[in-house]
Amino acid sequence: MRLFATLALILSAAALSACSMQGGAPETDGEPMVSPILTSDDAKDPYSYAQPDVARVTHVALDLALDFEAKMVRGKATLDILAAEGVDTVILDTMGLEIFSVTDEAGSELAFEVGLAKEEMGAPLTVTMEDKRQIVIAYQSGPDAKALQWLVPEQTAGGKHPYLLSQGQPTLNRTWIPTQDSPGIRQTWEAKITAPEPLTVVMSGLSGGDPMQASEGRRAFNFAMDKPVAPYLIAIAAGDIVFQELGPRSGVWTEPVMLEKAADELADTEKMIDAAEELYGKYRWGRYDMIVLPPSFPYGGMENPVMTFLTPTFIAGDRSLTGLVAHELAHSWSGNLVTNANWSDSWLNEGTTSYFENRIIEKLYGKKRASQERALNFAGMEETIAEKGSDAAITALHLTGENASPEGGASGVIYDKGASFLHTVEAIVGREKFDIWLESWFDRHAFEPATSAMFLADMRKNLVKGDEELEAKLMLDEWVYQPGLPSNALRPDAAAFAEVDKAAEAYIDSRTLDKAVWEKWTSAEQLRLLSKLPQELPEEELAKLDSELGLSVSGNNEILFAWLELALQNRYDPAVPLTEKFLATVGRRKFVAPLFETLIEQDEWGKPIAKRIYAKTRSSYHAVTTGTVDKVVLGGG
Ligand code: BES
Ligand code: ZN
Repeated sequence: MRLFATLALILSAAALSACSMQGGAPETDGEPMVSPILTSDDAKDPYSYAQPDVARVTHVALDLALDFEAKMVRGKATLDILAAEGVDTVILDTMGLEIFSVTDEAGSELAFEVGLAKEEMGAPLTVTMEDKRQIVIAYQSGPDAKALQWLVPEQTAGGKHPYLLSQGQPTLNRTWIPTQDSPGIRQTWEAKITAPEPLTVVMSGLSGGDPMQASEGRRAFNFAMDKPVAPYLIAIAAGDIVFQELGPRSGVWTEPVMLEKAADELADTEKMIDAAEELYGKYRWGRYDMIVLPPSFPYGGMENPVMTFLTPTFIAGDRSLTGLVAHELAHSWSGNLVTNANWSDSWLNEGTTSYFENRIIEKLYGKKRASQERALNFAGMEETIAEKGSDAAITALHLTGENASPEGGASGVIYDKGASFLHTVEAIVGREKFDIWLESWFDRHAFEPATSAMFLADMRKNLVKGDEELEAKLMLDEWVYQPGLPSNALRPDAAAFAEVDKAAEAYIDSRTLDKAVWEKWTSAEQLRLLSKLPQELPEEELAKLDSELGLSVSGNNEILFAWLELALQNRYDPAVPLTEKFLATVGRRKFVAPLFETLIEQDEWGKPIAKRIYAKTRSSYHAVTTGTVDKVVLGGG
């Protein structure tokens, strides 16, 4: 009896995965109604409890209230499940959720169990769904849900209203949505969210129109994402925000006092979408809106579909840091359409996107800016590889072992080495052929997960086509699976920074820079100069650099950050108040973590400063940022 039941289960699971494998998904208009999953070993996600080949979530319907006092979301999630006949349980991912009940659509209770929680993964929620294929989970998020940041009014530009923002990637959405939280499992979703007046809610789905009055003092907002997406792409923000159109299919949300500046910085967005489409095919998501968030947002940007989330720190006043927007837009193809099946292949999302970003920049702003940004990133990558060691596994594109953790790609190598890989292939096969292939890759795998092995196999089949000489030149496996930089890597254009590098060289003897020349330089050139200055500088020189080049008053946060790093590593006291001010407002991990690291490295000078500042600023950061900075400032010493 038991044997028979087990056998039936195995058979039905096999049948389910067979019908849902690549190419097997039913399609409408080129979009699968149910996205396939991959069942090969290299596609498995060890950071999710889900068993998608047995039972998987295909649609999530959220009905949630935002509670700013308790800092919780509360309500229900209705999940549609795809499972073969005879399968009676489904396993979901949760972290810190309080589950009140699980029922079927008619309200009959279903048995459920929350398993043991693991630090990085949270706990499995196993629901005995019997023969039901829709389950309703009543729940609320935990008090410190890592995806969510609840801001007090003082942390906003307007200063009057609270604010909520979320960050799902890589595995944080399980702290506010009970679903299968794995990038290899795609789900459509819809949501009804209520928020206290006068707050406005946006999500990474198309809006269902004007809000409706809900219970007293609250409004309800509706959203839907009718295309299957990886669950880390569900995102929410709520605050005193307003909208400005930028083009026929693009616009920006932000706080009223930020609107003009944000819209101006983003004025080229529609042109960027056009450029991206010319490169790699139609934009498939309908609208492309963005929200410029308060400065505590832990990333530069996040590619939430139809609603890119952006840090306000990219606003420089001269559109010099809009590569960020090109990057998040590019993810609409690389990442959101074709998605890494698990986090060991993050480079498929981030490396491909970094390449695509650079192509958009070239198309829109020309070769000079593109080649400078490339050279800057390439140098950064070489530095990181040198730091980690060119035989260190973390410098491979495909990550293994503990490097394959959801945060494994955070070293940044996968971004620039991935881009470098594709620039190299492009140079070898020729741009025209390469572009045709890359567009066809996005098309062939639209709305599907992908692995490194699939990427290489596709490239061999459709680009290399058995040409052995070409195959040898490309060094494909070495690029993807080996650490360090392969010998065929296309070097950045040596001319990109010729003038700047000469000035940096001259500085070593002259100890002066020509202010007029500096002011004519692009943002990338200025950043290059700062990176090429002697890393040890006496106080008088730092003071002179600052006053002549206006580093402390730069409106460009990348330059301000580079300056603060240089100053702190030289124990330059006058830079401390500005550092403190910067760290008290900006929560972007890329800036915050290195500044604290630099301080901590300056032992008896910097450690007390770091500890004093962090004690004051820690509570203003998102969990993504404190997760990294705690280890730096609080851990060890
Ligand atoms: N998708 C990433 C952010 C991310 C990656 C979050 C991995 C969690 C895990 C986003 O597209 C990104 O790369 N942001 C960069 C932008 C930059 C490279 C232009 C950032 O935030 O700095
Ligand atoms: Zn990215």
